[in-house]
Amino acid sequence: MPNSDHEKNRVAWNEMVEVHWDHPNQKRKEFLNGWCSLKSIELDAVGDVHGRSLLHLMCQFGMDTLSWARRGAVVTGVDISDRSIKRADELKKLARLDATFVRSDVLDLIGVIDQQFDIVFQSHGTHCWISDMDKWARVVAHYLKPGGVFFIVDDHPIICIREEPPNSYLHKEPIRYSGEPDYCDREHIIETERVEFQHPLSQIVNALINAGLTIEHLGEYDKGYYPIRADWYEKDGYWYPPGGPPMYPLMFSLKARKPQS
Ligand SMILES: C[S@@+](CC[C@H](N)C(=O)[O-])C[C@H]1O[C@@H](n2cnc3c(N)ncnc32)[C@H](O)[C@@H]1O
Repeated sequence: MPNSDHEKNRVAWNEMVEVHWDHPNQKRKEFLNGWCSLKSIELDAVGDVHGRSLLHLMCQFGMDTLSWARRGAVVTGVDISDRSIKRADELKKLARLDATFVRSDVLDLIGVIDQQFDIVFQSHGTHCWISDMDKWARVVAHYLKPGGVFFIVDDHPIICIREEPPNSYLHKEPIRYSGEPDYCDREHIIETERVEFQHPLSQIVNALINAGLTIEHLGEYDKGYYPIRADWYEKDGYWYPPGGPPMYPLMFSLKARKPQS
């Protein structure tokens, strides 16, 4: 039985991916001319991927997945949105790269892909869509080879205090909204209901520990991966509010490893 909140998000993401596909901020043309969509945090942390198998969870139309492929990884991307996977397959063909794209809810993935990976990767705008972090962490652990590495870089959950009105960092109920702008194209209103989930950092970390992974590094950053508001400025591929770096983190990263046995 599909998760009904995730199903709502699938429908919303089918609409959002079409908005993003053609949006200049997403730099599709630049990507097809060789530009790498990966940023310094993940490139430095994941390192050399040449010849390594990589599973990208919640990949949208696969630009990051394909950027890893350009660096020599053997990649598989997963997303709940059928339109995202269709666009990812299209981008793969346009870029003449090899990749496998699979449509699945991340929480239902076990049994859909029958393989383990050297690297499981997830980035930028993802944990907020997952209703059950313990189940998610078990999926991550399941797909790692012994000794394999999981890396995530994403919104820091403390950014909930930027919402208007602010949300509690420890908020437990699903957050439902509709009629809100798309984050990439603020002129485009997404009428479909979306459902997000607030996960404090402790919940994410503990879920991975309980799934058997060893945390090797936790990072916090006073910069964002996209302009949260129109007046933010860019420096070295990251984004800052007009007054400069804020007094709290905008992103976190986490590197974890599956023990050898
Ligand atoms: C902000 S986008 C991620 C962008 C991504 N970092 C990239 O490389 O383009 C979030 C993605 O998560 C997907 N998603 C949301 N809920 C999901 C779920 N339960 N399982 C799998 N994918 C999901 C959406 O369809 C969307 O493509």
